Parts: sequence; C-alpha cells; structure tokens
Amino acid sequence: MIKLFHVSKHYGTKSVLNDVTLLIEKGDMCCIVGPNGAGKSTLLKLMFCQEQSDRGQIMINNQNVTHMSQSAMPAVRQRMGFIFEDFRLMLRKTVLQNIVLALTIAGTPHKQGRQNVDRVLEALRLEHKKHDAASDLSAGEQQRVCIARAVVSDPLVLLADEPTGSLDSTATAEVFDLLRGMSARGTTVVLATQNQDVADRFPQHRVTLNQGRMTEQRNTCGI
Ligand SMILES: Nc1ncnc2c1ncn2[C@@H]1O[C@H](COP(=O)(O)OP(=O)(O)OP(=O)(O)O)[C@@H](O)[C@H]1O
Ligand SMILES: [Mg+2]
Repeated sequence: MIKLFHVSKHYGTKSVLNDVTLLIEKGDMCCIVGPNGAGKSTLLKLMFCQEQSDRGQIMINNQNVTHMSQSAMPAVRQRMGFIFEDFRLMLRKTVLQNIVLALTIAGTPHKQGRQNVDRVLEALRLEHKKHDAASDLSAGEQQRVCIARAVVSDPLVLLADEPTGSLDSTATAEVFDLLRGMSARGTTVVLATQNQDVADRFPQHRVTLNQGRMTEQRNTCGI
C-alpha cells in the first residue's frame, strides 16, 4: 500500500531522512516515533506528495508518486486523509463546512457523505459544535475537527501527524479506537508521534527515526 525505497531528503545542507526503506501494508497501523526534529512530519509529507524526495522511490496505492506532476496530485490525495500537526482548518468556516469540504474534494456521493458526517460528528463528540466557527473552538476541539475532516471520506490511507497532541485522555482513547476501527476495515494508518506513551499503544509496527536513519520493529503476536 505504501512503499518507500532508499528515500533521502535534505533541506539545504541538512540531511533529514537518510536511506529510508519501508513497506506499510494495507490495513497496517504503523507508528513513526522520534524526538522533535527527527523527520516524522517530513516523512508523512513525502507520502502525501507535499514534499519531494531527493533520492529514492515512493509508491502509494501501487502508483509511483516520486516525481508526480502538480496536476496529478489531487487524484492521489483524493483517497488519502491527513491529520495535520497544526490542524490547518478554515477558521472562519463552521465545523460542518470544514468537514463537508473534505467530502467534496474526495468526491463522496451525497447520501453516503451525509451518513459519514453524522457518524464522525458523533464519534468525535462534535455534534453540538457543528454550526460554530472553527475559530471559536478550543485547541482540543479544533484537533477533533481536523481528525473528522481527515476520516470522513473513508480514505484508503490515513496520515496522522501527532493526532492527539491537544486531546485529553478520554478523547485520546476515543481517537485511538476510531483509528483502530478504520485499520480493521482496511484503511492503512500511519501515525507520527514524539510521545512514547502514544507509541506504546501501537506495538504492531513501529518505525523509529533518529538523526535521519530509521529502525523498524514488527510484532506479529498482535499485542
Ligand atoms: N521546509 C523546511 N525547510 C527547512 N528545514 C525544514 C523544513 N521542514 C522541516 N525542516 C527541518 O527538518 C527537520 C525535521 O523536521 P520535521 O518537521 O520533519 O520533524 P518532526 O520529527 O516532525 O518534529 P516534531 O516532533 O517537532 O513535529 C527539522 O530540523 C526541521 O528544521
Ligand atoms: Mg512534526
């Protein structure tokens, strides 16, 4: 589902990712862990075609996206959801408008889209906020809208960059249940975090980044 072959990325003279080779299967839940500045967000941005690698090849859903043209990117991203570390909501729009725009971009049929909106509003406890402007929400509520927007179109691939950084423990547990449910239904989930407690909840497939190099642990026992 996601394959990286010998991928390297520099910013100026700084090497951020060095010879990363990684296979993430369909329905896998893969956790990328490492300290601030380790390159976690950069790795997710490469998968989302938001950044280009300097070396190596990247395949998403059997398509080589390594040197994808600007015009071809929307079609690739259409089946991907991205939970941004900095949320990137349209602050003047309502919660509902933010979520519905994601459905429009993904081309989800109207009836299915309405059902999905109701489902994610309930799962993320946002029903009572749906007509509020995103700017009027707390940080934790904004992060839940960002998650709702990323999952509402049932993406094939979900990229989650520190998705629970602003959430309390109850909301964190709910979000992990949501992600696990999506993975069980076949969505490939890649989660990046600097928080070891979060990483410990995803023991199946862990990728650790340290000074640009990756190490990988797989636990087939399914703890
Ligand atoms: N657009 C950019 N231009 C220059 N340097 C960048 C850019 N984006 C990231 N970097 C550098 O690349 C390194 C990795 O950044 P990245 O955001 O991937 O780290 P991270 O692991 O996500 O960190 P955090 O835990 O703080 O989110 C950092 O040293 C950062 O300064
Ligand atoms: Mg980051």
